[in-house]
Amino acid sequence: MKFACGAKIIGVGAGLPVSVVTNEDLTRLVDTSDEWIETRTGIKERRIVNETESATGLATEAARDALAYAGIEGDTIELVIVATSTPDNLYPSTACQVQAAIGASRAVAFDMEAACTGIIYALSVGQQFIGSGTYKRVLVIGVDVHSRFLNWEDRNTCILFGDGAGAFVLEATEQSDNQMLGTYLRADGNGGHLLWIPNTGTQYPHAGTDGPQPTTRFLQMNGRAIYEFAVNAVPEAVRQATAAAGITVDDIDYMVPHQANIRIIKAAADRLGIKKEQVVTNVDEMGNTSAASIPLALWSAIRRDKVKIPSTMCLVGFGAGLTWGSAVVKWTAVDKRGDAASTSEKAEKAEASIS
Ligand code: COA
Repeated sequence: MKFACGAKIIGVGAGLPVSVVTNEDLTRLVDTSDEWIETRTGIKERRIVNETESATGLATEAARDALAYAGIEGDTIELVIVATSTPDNLYPSTACQVQAAIGASRAVAFDMEAACTGIIYALSVGQQFIGSGTYKRVLVIGVDVHSRFLNWEDRNTCILFGDGAGAFVLEATEQSDNQMLGTYLRADGNGGHLLWIPNTGTQYPHAGTDGPQPTTRFLQMNGRAIYEFAVNAVPEAVRQATAAAGITVDDIDYMVPHQANIRIIKAAADRLGIKKEQVVTNVDEMGNTSAASIPLALWSAIRRDKVKIPSTMCLVGFGAGLTWGSAVVKWTAVDKRGDAASTSEKAEKAEASIS
């Protein structure tokens, strides 16, 4: 696709709940074990919101962190896009709440939903607005608080998810400096029943006299079918996005996949011939944070100097819908706070809980 303007990512940020819930903690809720969860998923712990934390709060924290990384103020943002499946309310949108909180008074703001692929869809939409010359700075946030939609008595699902927010800042560039090299988006609603949350939709039974049915309020999943879908979707999306970028999989320095399960990530990387050290993961410490997982994985890796800058990265997502997609980006952005970033209170808090 030909765009009038180029785009590049100039910031990444994170918003995380304070509480860490370990696999051991979950053994007190359901019949499971640390060994089972880690072997089948790679997850050791996840962050879960407390009563005072919310999707809007996490998204705002991620936004502020990404703005600081980029060294810019909120009032220079012209569009806020929030990808989420678990907003605090049906409206106002999370994006409008973030827009107000960061003082982006000129910005247009809206939410969109493509489940765990949401951040890839949102990046692509942001790129379109920049590419058309409409906006120069776009804040793209992925946030999910799945813990409020999980059945904490269902060991098949409650062990998989964590809460969190991740954000990117996109900025217009000259065409010659374009760093959003290629994208690929897909959807297949025929698989919608494989992963769904009926809660809050118009088909959700009214609380009424009998009250909601516990088996239909929460996230439902066919784990095996989703696994099969994912190990095919990731290689397809990576190959197609690299082709759109005019490069091959061998030209990628890093793959930053949606952090659902380490087995899915490894199987997909093997199929693509991508080496272990090229795969960016933090599923062990955050679980599946849905729309937030890709920026959160990259945020962790950058903070720990695990990725070289500049480099070529393939961000790749998959999830409910079904949806899947990928974005190939050249990453040149460094944290404008310098050393201050790694000594910030939040960074130390995260480090303390994962080391
Ligand atoms: N602890 C202990 N045992 C568990 C368990 C848990 N937390 N969850 C399920 N089990 C049991 C099952 O009941 C089953 O028991 P049974 O054989 O007596 O019926 C057994 O473990 C094996 O279950 P199975 O479904 O074969 O496990 P699996 O190897 O396929 O792993 C998933 C299950 C969910 C980890 C895996 O299918 C997966 O990751 N799927 C993708 C899910 C995903 O990523 N969703 C989000 C996408 S965005």
